[in-house]
Amino acid sequence: MSPQKNASLRLGSIAPNFDAKTTTGPINFHEFIGDSWAILFSHPADFTPVCTTELGEVARLADKFAARNVKVIGLSANDLDSHAKWVEDINEVGNVKVEFPIIADPTREVSALYDMLDYQDITNVDQKGIPFTVRSVFIIDPKKTIRLTLAYPASTGRNFDEILRVVDSLQLGDKHRITTPANWKDGDDVIVHPSVSNDEAAKLFPGYRTLKPYLRLAKQPAPVSA
Ligand code: BEZ
Repeated sequence: MSPQKNASLRLGSIAPNFDAKTTTGPINFHEFIGDSWAILFSHPADFTPVCTTELGEVARLADKFAARNVKVIGLSANDLDSHAKWVEDINEVGNVKVEFPIIADPTREVSALYDMLDYQDITNVDQKGIPFTVRSVFIIDPKKTIRLTLAYPASTGRNFDEILRVVDSLQLGDKHRITTPANWKDGDDVIVHPSVSNDEAAKLFPGYRTLKPYLRLAKQPAPVSA
């Protein structure tokens, strides 16, 4: 299918669909997501140092993504042969087994669709001077709605624990009428959603505490992936 042009990438937009070649076979992105959550993330290029550590880390966290019903899928502007050879390095250096798919996007079709190309780092280009991708992240829910976007520069490896933390917050907030405070992590107190009246809060979150009328804390209502 030909990709959508000028698709919106805002929070709440439907993630643009596309067909692509990946290290685990061809995919249609929306079919790949299916009933799961998805994390689409780009790295600048294969056989580069920061990227090697990042993909090793994503492989190491495979069980944590699976426990949250999250499929991860990487992308760079390199071809499938390059990805396959580089995965051997990632596995060796990180002592891991990369099993998630990596999209091969040498034509930059998907990178352009998701506005991933690097327009500021003149070192992050291929041999012809064409930009590679920055370190983009999209968290997408089972309805294919974009729930988080991030763009990191090529120079800075991402914290994938933070990305898992956001998944936890989003999934918990979808099930319960809560939000999560600064630096929240699984097990910490949550915030009663501002749309919840005090009467409702007393039923939904027995023992909730009011610090300010607009800031009410409650025990986390359930484990994150339950
Ligand atoms: C890296 O992964 O180390 C990297 C890739 C592109 C530009 C700068 C750093």
